[in-house]
Amino acid sequence: MLGKNFYYQGGDLLCDGIKIENIVQKYSTPVFIYSEPHIKENLNRINKAINGKQITVCYAVKANPALSILKLAGTKNLGFDVVSEGEMRRVLKSSPEPKIVFSGVGKTDEEIRFALQNEIFSLNVESLPELNRVNMVANGLNIRAPVSIRINPDVNPDTHPYIATGLRENKFGLSMEDGMNAYKTAQSLPFIDIKGIDCHIGSQILSLEPFEQATEKVLSFIDQLMKETGIVLSHINLGGGLGIPYSDNENPPSLEHFLNVTSDVVINWYRKRGLNPPHLVYELGRSVVGNSGILVAKVLYLKNTMESNGKNFAVIDAAMNDLIRPTLYNAHHEVVPVTMKKKTCSNKWEIVGPICESGDWLAKNRELSLSEGDLICFFSAGAYCSSMASNYNSRRKPAEVIVSCDNTVREIVRRESYDEILNREIT
Ligand code: LLP
Repeated sequence: MLGKNFYYQGGDLLCDGIKIENIVQKYSTPVFIYSEPHIKENLNRINKAINGKQITVCYAVKANPALSILKLAGTKNLGFDVVSEGEMRRVLKSSPEPKIVFSGVGKTDEEIRFALQNEIFSLNVESLPELNRVNMVANGLNIRAPVSIRINPDVNPDTHPYIATGLRENKFGLSMEDGMNAYKTAQSLPFIDIKGIDCHIGSQILSLEPFEQATEKVLSFIDQLMKETGIVLSHINLGGGLGIPYSDNENPPSLEHFLNVTSDVVINWYRKRGLNPPHLVYELGRSVVGNSGILVAKVLYLKNTMESNGKNFAVIDAAMNDLIRPTLYNAHHEVVPVTMKKKTCSNKWEIVGPICESGDWLAKNRELSLSEGDLICFFSAGAYCSSMASNYNSRRKPAEVIVSCDNTVREIVRRESYDEILNREIT
């Protein structure tokens, strides 16, 4: 997990030349720290992989919606994948004339209207009733809604069940058969402009096979669609889901490999038929920012309990409200000390937060040499960590800072204040 951007020097953990300890002195804990060079490198790698092909990679805002990160993605020509009006508002605030795709099974009339008024690139429609609703809202605005239909290809992405989305039993998209009917209905709806097709099979996917299977299924669907309806699609959206390493023994395909292999499958398929390939769209989140961030926390108490089978608890000042992935998905985040110690008297720790639930754990069985007051860091906290933080137990959401390419540290999200938590309430 250590690498070019996060590394030890003389026993101290650094992010791009800056001591984590110094960042903590200024911004306190818990704090998310992101490496701008790491994010920029990923964005450059995406652009290099696109290399003149008709591809738009949309950044999945849900992974990390900080305005500064959206701005970075926008300046590197990425589009945006959003799932709510809130996310759309973030994108509109951070990027001029963004290309936005809007997915999700439960778009409200207001959200559909807002998307259409802001000239969205595509509404990814996930059901027949939604298609009719989009037609109705577009009618009210007297415009034609650019639409793609989300197909559920029934492919097993081999990931945690909560983040698998392309299986028949999942709530997402339409089966091949229902999808065909949806396109036929769409042809008859006056305010629907059929633009594309989309599919997203899940997240944290560690091999290319499920993506290849899904792409093949989408292509055979398109084959049938052309034959049955004559519809010619102007884009194919293959979604996101590329995994990242959360530990050194996980080896997902690189961004380049993923983009090259999947886009070539589509491009070659079209060329073989003497057709021009449509524009390709992707919706990548985790693989853009996941490994770019860490969460730093302070050890408050060390508690050795003979009663709980001799377990050692390290109670820290971050909790499940700051990092919910471990308890929600049994997810693993590497934990390392911010300062290496000379004398190592290590123990196996269950690292827990102050929240009043036994589910409030962030790591289990970790061999570390810890003392009270130590700083520890959780790796791979750039995606789905700050974005899933909550105020449970009336805890404030952490500060988020970024180490910039010019080696300065910039706060991008202030630590929440107690006033901000209380201000919404009416007594
Ligand atoms: N497109 C759609 C329609 C999605 O639902 C998602 C993620 C993405 C794109 C981006 O997927 P990515 O490239 O980031 O894998 N909270 C979970 C992850 C949930 C993913 C939800 N959808 C986690 O912490 O692992």
